[in-house]
Amino acid sequence: METRVDEIAERIYRLSTFLPVVGPRGFTFNQFLVDADEPLLFHCGQRALFPAVSAAVARVMDVRRLRWIAFSHIEADECGALDEWLAAAPAATVTHGAIGCAIWLNDQAPRPPRALADGEVLDLGGRRVRRLDTPHVPHCWDAGLLHEETTATLFTSDLLTHVGDPPALTEGDIIEPAIAAERHFGYTTISPATGATVRRLAALAPRTLAVMHGSSFSGDGKAVLTRLASFYDERLRQGTTAAGA
Ligand SMILES: [Fe+2]
Ligand SMILES: [Fe+2]
Repeated sequence: METRVDEIAERIYRLSTFLPVVGPRGFTFNQFLVDADEPLLFHCGQRALFPAVSAAVARVMDVRRLRWIAFSHIEADECGALDEWLAAAPAATVTHGAIGCAIWLNDQAPRPPRALADGEVLDLGGRRVRRLDTPHVPHCWDAGLLHEETTATLFTSDLLTHVGDPPALTEGDIIEPAIAAERHFGYTTISPATGATVRRLAALAPRTLAVMHGSSFSGDGKAVLTRLASFYDERLRQGTTAAGA
């Protein structure tokens, strides 16, 4: 198992492991390393991936320099290897939203977490990440995302998931492959709040979308996210119309 490393924005690295047996055409599991005075890892990966992913981090920097570990929601690919990362990086603190700390980390994490409020900024020294609560988007009550403000990079977690082993970074279309994956997996909890939550992300006008499964995107992130919000609005409308018929 090999984890590839690509710099998708200045000092932001995508760590990507392709598992050919997952999904219809294989699936990438991507973590993101923000290299700053206080380096941050977004997504831990599953425990089975830890040897490969930690070796990939070590190609960029000493793993013991990691200061922050963050993720979107409680799920194996997001935070399965949390204990392993905290053991490998003694100075690291796990950070998450208030809900996630209350329902999971305060009880389960080997060291106390640092809770971030909605909209709160973590100054990493040279890079700044803002926490955005996105409950149930893409799924799970504790869900939230980080926006790195100096490079305008939004870490989208499972939003915009697409299958296969596409390039690390593209300026091409990721919406159609993402809609196809949503139709295939049905992984998003679609509620009346989904479209509005995704539009709040679009308003950040990110220049890079760091996608957990598939290619990251460089370009007009606002347009991509606005289209995604409209897709979810339409799915909800179709669902409620069918339910009421
Ligand atoms: Fe997920
Ligand atoms: Fe995921």
